[in-house]
Amino acid sequence: MTDVLGLLALALAAAGLIALGWWLLVATEGVYLGRRVVVALYDLFAPRYDCVKNYYREYEQMYLADPIMRAIAPHRSPLVLDVATGTGRLPLALMRHPDFQGRVIGLDLSRQMLKFAARNLSVYDERVTFIWGPAERLPFDDDAFDVVTCLEALEFMTRPEVVLRECVRVLRPGGLLLVTQRINTRLMPGKTWTSGQFQALLEACGVVDGRVQIWQVDYRKVWGRKAGDAPAVGARPPAEVIRCPGCAGRGLRPDGKRWRCDGCGMLVPVGSDGVLELAPLCD
Ligand SMILES: C[S@@+](CC[C@H](N)C(=O)[O-])C[C@H]1O[C@@H](n2cnc3c(N)ncnc32)[C@H](O)[C@@H]1O
Repeated sequence: MTDVLGLLALALAAAGLIALGWWLLVATEGVYLGRRVVVALYDLFAPRYDCVKNYYREYEQMYLADPIMRAIAPHRSPLVLDVATGTGRLPLALMRHPDFQGRVIGLDLSRQMLKFAARNLSVYDERVTFIWGPAERLPFDDDAFDVVTCLEALEFMTRPEVVLRECVRVLRPGGLLLVTQRINTRLMPGKTWTSGQFQALLEACGVVDGRVQIWQVDYRKVWGRKAGDAPAVGARPPAEVIRCPGCAGRGLRPDGKRWRCDGCGMLVPVGSDGVLELAPLCD
C-alpha cells in the first residue's frame, strides 16, 4: 500500500513538473525566466515559425498593410520601424503593398528569426534593413520614424513599458504607432493589461488618439499617434537614423562587409545575410 502511495506521489510530482515546464517554456515562451530564455527559445523555434503561424498573404494585406497605408495617406514613402520583427511579417506585408514606396527597418533580438526574415525579404533588400538588437534600447535617433510597429511581442518582453517608451521616443511627433494587446490573458498573469490599463500606459508614454481594434483570437490591434506634429521623415537611408552603440553618435556608415563609426571608430559586423549585428555591442 505504501509502495502504491509512493508511486502515486512520484507520478503526481512528475506530472506537476512537466506541466510547470510546459507553462514556463511553451505557453509563456520563457518570459518568466528572463530575456535570454525568450530569445534562446525563438532562436530554437525560428525554422518552424512561419510554418506554425502560416500567415495568409491576403489577410496580412487586408489587416496590416492596407490600414497602415490608409492611416498615413496621402504619404506613400514613410520610414517604418518594426520592433520585434521576427521573420519579417510586417515588412513583407508592406513591401507587397502596391502603393508602399517607403523603407522598413526590422529589429529583433533573435538572430535566428532574423536569418529567416532576411531570407523572406531578400528581393527587397534595397528598401529593408534588419538589425539584431534589443527593443529595450533602440539604436535610433529621437523622432526618426514616420511609423513604428510592434506586433505580438510586448507580452514576451521582460520590460514592456521600457519598450513602449522607446517605440514612442523614436517616432516623430504626429507619427503612427501600431502595437498589439494580448487578450488571451489566462496563462500569463502579470504580463498582460486590460484595455484601460493599456490605454493609460500609452498615454503616459505620450501617445494620443488611441484606438483599439478587434483583430485575432489572442490579440487586438492598438493604434495611436505621438503627440505633436512634425513633417514626415520619408524613406531616408538607415545610416541617417541609426545611432552608434559605442558613442551614441550618428557616425555609423557601411564600410565593405561591416559598418564603421566615423565618431568613435567602432566596427559593427554585418552577417552574410545582410543583418546588421548590433546586439553583442549593446549591453
Ligand atoms: C511572437 S514573435 C512576433 C514576431 C512578429 N512581430 C510577428 O508578428 O510575426 C515575438 C518576437 O519578439 C522578439 N523579442 C522578444 N524579446 C525581444 C527583445 N527584448 N528585443 C527584441 N526582440 C525581442 C522575439 O525574438 C520574437 O521574434
